[in-house]
Amino acid sequence: MEKIIDENKQGQSLTLNKKEGNKRKLFIESYGCAMNFSDSEIVASILTNQGFNTTQNLEEADLVLVNTCSIRDKAEQTVRKRLEKYNAVKRDHNPKMKVGVLGCMAERLKTKFLEEEKIVDLVVGPDAYKDLPNLLAEVDEGRDAINVILSKEETYGDISPVRLNTNGVTAFVSITRGCDNMCTFCVVPFTRGRERSRAPQSIIEEVNDLWNKGYKEITLLGQNVDSYLWYGGGLKKDFDKATDMQKATSVNFSNLLDLCAKAQPKMRIRFSTSNPQDLTLGVVETMAKHQNICNHIHLPVQSGSNRILKEMNRLHTREEYMTLIDKIRKIIPDCAISQDMIVGFPTETEEDFQDTISLMEYVKYNFGYMYKYSERPGTMAGRNMEDDVPEETKKRRLQYIVDLQRLHSEIKTKEWLDKTVEVLIEKESKKSDTQWSGRTPQSIVCVFPKENYKVGDFVNVKVKNCTSATLIGEVVGYSDNN
Ligand code: SAH
Ligand code: F3S
Repeated sequence: MEKIIDENKQGQSLTLNKKEGNKRKLFIESYGCAMNFSDSEIVASILTNQGFNTTQNLEEADLVLVNTCSIRDKAEQTVRKRLEKYNAVKRDHNPKMKVGVLGCMAERLKTKFLEEEKIVDLVVGPDAYKDLPNLLAEVDEGRDAINVILSKEETYGDISPVRLNTNGVTAFVSITRGCDNMCTFCVVPFTRGRERSRAPQSIIEEVNDLWNKGYKEITLLGQNVDSYLWYGGGLKKDFDKATDMQKATSVNFSNLLDLCAKAQPKMRIRFSTSNPQDLTLGVVETMAKHQNICNHIHLPVQSGSNRILKEMNRLHTREEYMTLIDKIRKIIPDCAISQDMIVGFPTETEEDFQDTISLMEYVKYNFGYMYKYSERPGTMAGRNMEDDVPEETKKRRLQYIVDLQRLHSEIKTKEWLDKTVEVLIEKESKKSDTQWSGRTPQSIVCVFPKENYKVGDFVNVKVKNCTSATLIGEVVGYSDNN
């Protein structure tokens, strides 16, 4: 999920509308996945009610919060560097400043954080944000405060997030929290706990509210959205214990997509992330049924080798994955498919790597996010497998598939040349202030001259040119969706 966050948004401090009368200043920044950015909006909402307004100036902050990521070692190092920066600001300019660590690193390191990083006053895990007012009271009295209890219920469904740094057009809506999949390389099940789903009514209310505020596109968020299951509350793994009535009236992801699409037929709907073992054809058919559900599936596979998939505890084979891709393309021929890959997982041989390459050749993904394996303490692979692929080999394999993906992206992007695509205008193009930037339903970025159009318009764009990742075109008029 982390890739839907623009690289240059990582670590950006967040602004929101000021609430009259609020005196204390909060500086909050987020790293990692979309869920973290979404969680920071929940935290901002809670703290706005505690007398805080946000600031982008560290030197004047009463409270600094950093929402952290543990997915790879590098992500944790980035946060450690930020803590050093806060330390310097506190020492030189702002001695009264308090510092809190939120999110996955808080959960993973717990009290160790308070011992290791003297600057930290507050440690709050991803399920404990509602406890922030109490924890802050402790900090105000000069004590360190910590809550890293993972919950069976907490979904923050009743909190209306404060939209931070918003373009007013696209928004995230959380639908599940946690993950039960236990991929052997992944720290998420340890930092975000067991999987639970948010009540459909509260999701639909949020979607309606966003539409009424002018938003035109939402992304339903979860570590594993296809395993969404509402039966009145509780953990996904306890569904077996539900009553017959609860089972009969339960709502799965396909049902939820249908409900969202019908609630706001002009709202574009995206979702992330799908796990191949949980994505059902029912979901794909629901996508095909509704014009407003975008034709894009982010379908991480991690490896093309059956042996490695098994070691990773990914519960499908490469053949099953390829069949799933074929079925998706049969039902939705223009569906974009993107990937996550890991190279250098323990014991990965050259032959395993060749299997990853041949899988990529077979699928020809529209785009993807590729990583070198990073051992995470506490995970099954971290405990039981030696990180035995040399760094040089990891680097070489990564570079190879990054180049291959660029080639495939180029082939896929070129297929749109001379066609007309629907684009939702999101922002100014990074490269030119006379151009707009938006995305097609397939999530392909498209840029074109602004003319008299504005952010939030749905326009039809004739594609004239392209790079490997971007379509370049001209508007031919408004789309029917306006
Ligand atoms: N289901 C989640 C996955 C979260 S992690 C989601 O919503 O996206 C995102 C990606 O990071 C994974 O798909 C995987 O490719 C990569 N990743 C996770 N753990 C990793 C590790 N230990 N080393 C390298 N990459 C990792
Ligand atoms: Fe991680 Fe696998 Fe869940 S990658 S978030 S354990 S689906």
